Amino acid sequence: SFEKVEQGPPDAILGVKTRFLADDSPESVNVSVGAYRDAQGKPLVLEVVRKAEKAILEDASRNKEYLGIAGDVKFRQATQEFCFGADAKSVKEGRVATVQALSGTGALRVGAEFLATHFAGTKVYIPNPTWGNHFKIFGNAGLETAKYTYLNPATRGLDFEGMMKDLEQAPAGSVVVLHVCAHNPTGVDPTAEQWQKIVDLLTERQLLPFFDSAYQGFASGDVDKDAYAVRLFESKGQQMMVAQSYSKNMGLYGERVGALNVVCPSAGACARVMSQLELVIRPMYSNPPRHGAAIAALILTDPKLREEWKVELKGIVDRILAMRKGLREAIEATGAPGDWSFITDQIGMFTFTGLSADQVASMEKNYHIYMPSNGRISVAGLTSDKLEHVAKAIRSVL
Ligand code: LMR
Repeated sequence: SFEKVEQGPPDAILGVKTRFLADDSPESVNVSVGAYRDAQGKPLVLEVVRKAEKAILEDASRNKEYLGIAGDVKFRQATQEFCFGADAKSVKEGRVATVQALSGTGALRVGAEFLATHFAGTKVYIPNPTWGNHFKIFGNAGLETAKYTYLNPATRGLDFEGMMKDLEQAPAGSVVVLHVCAHNPTGVDPTAEQWQKIVDLLTERQLLPFFDSAYQGFASGDVDKDAYAVRLFESKGQQMMVAQSYSKNMGLYGERVGALNVVCPSAGACARVMSQLELVIRPMYSNPPRHGAAIAALILTDPKLREEWKVELKGIVDRILAMRKGLREAIEATGAPGDWSFITDQIGMFTFTGLSADQVASMEKNYHIYMPSNGRISVAGLTSDKLEHVAKAIRSVL
């Protein structure tokens, strides 16, 4: 009987919104989920997305037939080039197996199922901390997960030594999950020099990188700069997997647009991997949805739209940087003890405050400020009129 089914816990990130929606205080602030808001606090549909949608709707040659199991052909090629660069050796040699996916989560899940089927017993090393869903995605696919050191809580910076030490212990053949840029939740990324050392270690220890690329272009505003880590690994001839999401950089959250890329050693291996990825997808959801992928494909391949997108992305990044600066200044203005420079040093849409779960609970109860219990604030969800309120709340819970 269904009577025996137990109540499950709410999601650590998406569940917070339910409580926020039930709070009718005029002071309430939702800085939980990583979703960009404009200066008025409203969800933003990019102008370039509206234009692409209009063109798609007016194109009478388009239909609603099923896409192939691997998704939109034009999108797949465009997203591969966006990730690795059109001149990448693996792309030119036809060694990258790319399937459209239900955004980053779907790409990670398809990749995890593929690994569990063909590399059973593989251990997956995940940074500590990380985006909470990572552990569940790999675990639910039947893979064993382990943590590797990432953040040094005392400095709120990267514990590079700890990270390298842990990865040195990983058995050959293990998978290492890496955030390409704008690490979620910490906003702390390795430097170019550190990435060099990471790629050397992974090659030497025969570890497989599985990149999560959720913020290409959204971190710095420069889509090539943000792809640095992936392109470095690719240039070294590394085999790897890359999950891509267009949720943030194109604001296509609910359209679920993303891709999984598997960089293979040969074109033959690539064809075989493609066939196996399709065998994962077909019984899972058959084939992916058309609309969002068509939008992304058009923006990526139309030079005019691509240029307009760049300008809009820059505007988004600038507003996030302004909110980082504003939040830091507002907290410092309260006389709060400690060094708050980490807020402007961290990269991407979040600031990892170091607030404890109790402090977060107090922010919610007493100040109507909603964030996940790990103390992560979505800076991209802040607006100027809320900065003082948030800063005062932080000051008072310290
Ligand atoms: C987040 O971390 O808030 C986003 O990536 C949204 C999500 O799916 O959790």
